[in-house]
Amino acid sequence: MEEAQSRIQSDKPQLVLIGEKRICLVKRQNQFFAVQDRCTHNGESLSKGMVNYLGEVICPWHNYRFSLQNGRECSSRSADLITYPVKVESNGLFIGIF
Ligand code: FES
Repeated sequence: MEEAQSRIQSDKPQLVLIGEKRICLVKRQNQFFAVQDRCTHNGESLSKGMVNYLGEVICPWHNYRFSLQNGRECSSRSADLITYPVKVESNGLFIGIF
């Protein structure tokens, strides 16, 4: 777990592949957030984007913004993202996929 804490930079989206799923993982203020990696606007990979001071991931293609907390697209122009629960345990970091 300490490895995940130290290897993942804050506010820098990381692509995580779990089976066929592509997940965008973000560490922010020592909390982890996981959302679908595929932008709901036109499919760009959100893990190539950045996170702003409000805790929104910004798509690098057309700059749509999505809340890391609830996946909501901030201007209601596109569908919301799927969010995944992240659990931090002493033996690792677990992402709840379904
Ligand atoms: S593809 Fe993400 S904003 Fe257009």
